[in-house]
Amino acid sequence: MVQSTVRAGACKSLSMRIGVIGATGPAGRAVAAQFAAIGERVVVGSRSEERAAATVAELRERWPGRDLDLVAGVNRDACEADVVVLATPWEGVGATLDDLAGDLGGRLVISMVNALAKWGRYVVPLVPPTGSVTAAVALALAGSRVVGAFHNLPAGPWSDLDRPLDADVLVVAERRADAREVVALVDRLPGLRGVDAGNLANAAAVEALTATLVGINIRYKAHASIRLTGLHRD
Ligand SMILES: NC(=O)c1ccc[n+]([C@@H]2O[C@H](COP(=O)([O-])OP(=O)(O)OC[C@H]3O[C@@H](n4cnc5c(N)ncnc54)[C@H](OP(=O)(O)O)[C@@H]3O)[C@@H](O)[C@H]2O)c1
Repeated sequence: MVQSTVRAGACKSLSMRIGVIGATGPAGRAVAAQFAAIGERVVVGSRSEERAAATVAELRERWPGRDLDLVAGVNRDACEADVVVLATPWEGVGATLDDLAGDLGGRLVISMVNALAKWGRYVVPLVPPTGSVTAAVALALAGSRVVGAFHNLPAGPWSDLDRPLDADVLVVAERRADAREVVALVDRLPGLRGVDAGNLANAAAVEALTATLVGINIRYKAHASIRLTGLHRD
């Protein structure tokens, strides 16, 4: 059940709604804060409505000057949004989608899930039998429009609404129209540029790149993401 924290802003009722599954973690919080900051209504989803409510309270407390339109709910509530972002650990994806596949039918679902593991001192990519987590999500959600995006953004700095990242977001999808829709959505977020990076076969490279970036960020004590050169998209 969604806790009704929606305020009576006449303009906001027309906005697109973003739902985030697993929004209580660093990645989901960053997504929620960023979309709310550009005026979208965001359903902050969790397995526990209490944790979702606590996350909404924390985000509002962190950004008191911003009118963030955040609604706390369980993950099923997040599935009612126009666009649903999947932000759980890869280990939880199977059970989560088993539970929610029916609710996600016909929705535009963005997976930002990376499968990573520690290998000695290193963070390495795990490759699921489908080649990527995004492809596994697409297989599990045959009735949804599944797109991969946001994999390579470091959640900590991305959650800072006062300091936009300077990064490209690689967007992978089977259908170019879905990719274009997400590229346009990404372009609205401060500091980010969406790039159509091709079909789901390319998701493996995009997700694995995250392990490389994590290693770089540990080595250089940085928060690097990616920016492509030589691409004049518009
Ligand atoms: N952190 C980053 O910098 C970053 C950047 C890009 C992409 N990503 C990807 O985004 C996803 C989330 O990252 P994160 O760092 O936010 O992860 P996280 O904190 O470990 O998990 C996010 C949320 O998922 C829910 N969750 C945990 N285990 C679950 C399970 N077994 N089944 C269903 N839900 C579960 C929890 O919410 P509730 O307990 O409230 O349900 C948790 O707060 C990961 O796949 C990660 O690879 C992360």
